[in-house]
Amino acid sequence: MADVQINLYYKNVMSEVVGDEHGITDSQRKDLNAKTSPLISQLNKERKAGKTPYRDLPYKTETAKQVKELAVEVKDNCEILVVLGIGGSALGNIAVQTALNPYMYNLDETQRKGPRLFVFDNVDPAQFTTFLDWIDDKLDKTIFNVISKSGRTAETAAQLMIIHKIISEKFDSGGLRDHIIATTNSKEGILREFASEANLRTLEVPNGVGGRFSVLSAVGLFSAAMCGIDIDSLLAGARDMDEKVSCEDFQKNPAAINAAINYHFYNNGKRNSVIMPYSYALKDMADWYRQLWAESLGKNVDLDGHEVCIGPTPIKALGTTDQHSQVQLYREGPNDKLFTFLQVNNFDQDLKIGPAPDCAPELGFLAGNNLSVLLNKHKKATEYALLESKRPCLTILFDKVDAYTVGQFIYLYEVTTSFAGALFNINPYDQPAVELGKEATFALMGKEGYEDFAQEIRSKTEIDEEYLV
Ligand code: PA5
Repeated sequence: MADVQINLYYKNVMSEVVGDEHGITDSQRKDLNAKTSPLISQLNKERKAGKTPYRDLPYKTETAKQVKELAVEVKDNCEILVVLGIGGSALGNIAVQTALNPYMYNLDETQRKGPRLFVFDNVDPAQFTTFLDWIDDKLDKTIFNVISKSGRTAETAAQLMIIHKIISEKFDSGGLRDHIIATTNSKEGILREFASEANLRTLEVPNGVGGRFSVLSAVGLFSAAMCGIDIDSLLAGARDMDEKVSCEDFQKNPAAINAAINYHFYNNGKRNSVIMPYSYALKDMADWYRQLWAESLGKNVDLDGHEVCIGPTPIKALGTTDQHSQVQLYREGPNDKLFTFLQVNNFDQDLKIGPAPDCAPELGFLAGNNLSVLLNKHKKATEYALLESKRPCLTILFDKVDAYTVGQFIYLYEVTTSFAGALFNINPYDQPAVELGKEATFALMGKEGYEDFAQEIRSKTEIDEEYLV
């Protein structure tokens, strides 16, 4: 076990802190223990039976080796790495990069151990055009990592088709291989076919691993390795967490406890789950969590076929920024939220606040303190204020933010999601509602065979002038 760790702190969700109406009482805690404990061995068995292959990603040392070898092979010719993907094929890349590389990484080459990284997870024409204009004279040192498990997502396919044209026109026949790396299903799908035809370098999205559970596969590891992130530590942290979240003693299992607490509050009127890092580095982990939680747990049918329309709404916030934006609502608005803070005990870099100007001696209370102290005191102050308003609060404590603890965090939340899925009795690994939107886009874009569907969509979505003001 490494010196640096993350821990879940849950005293401030208990009734002794926020009262019986809004906290978990001793008897409710016992009930949660009784309900969740059997799920630990159930999930462990499912994992052994190969039903949750994401659980084994931290042990895939071959993948890490392949990713690192590819990074070494292409790095010298890559000053700009562009990830094209969406949802689970982008959010993990963004979150890991923000967490583990400096804020000025893209702008300051002295702070950079790899290429600049851009992740495009949208098809906004203004955004993409301005980027392609900027990159035009830098294409010879640019690599596009196109990531799509299915290979059929319209946004990613459109991005690929745009850059395919640009690269084909600019370079000779080897251009596509030099400038595009495809990460996709090992055998099938349009992207796999395109990669074979164009002789691209490829990486695999492992079978049975959904996008939002794939950050510890080649999906997230390649951009991380290219940008100098220690992917071995990332995986080692996840393996460390795997031991904890596999432990069959409920009291010692942070994922089981985290899921049980979230489940309890959902069933007791707190259907929103706010995650609030007090660390800019962890800001995009909140975004990653938001997708993981929403797509996995928002389901209308349970495993017995009953209509349930269930799922906590994940909300991302950032301390201290959102203290000045959201906390008024969080304290005085409806008491319908569970809060999870991410707190960092040791920052790699710190700044001492200078002395108070002579004209403002009242600022002396700040003088001489480190910014990390101010940030963490803000966290405690906000937590205190929320507790005073009887709002339950969890904290994930990071000894520090590094590849090891980020690997732990990712794995903790993935397995928490599996536990929550089991508690809610739903399938956390599919996303049928997202698929319908994808199909509808195909229809509206004129895909063959979708004509009737397109007609039906138009009848419901075309602007009716009568209601236009
Ligand atoms: O988690 C998921 O499965 C989704 O968010 C997908 O990652 C997203 O829809 C993109 O799909 P694909 O990787 O197939 O292009």
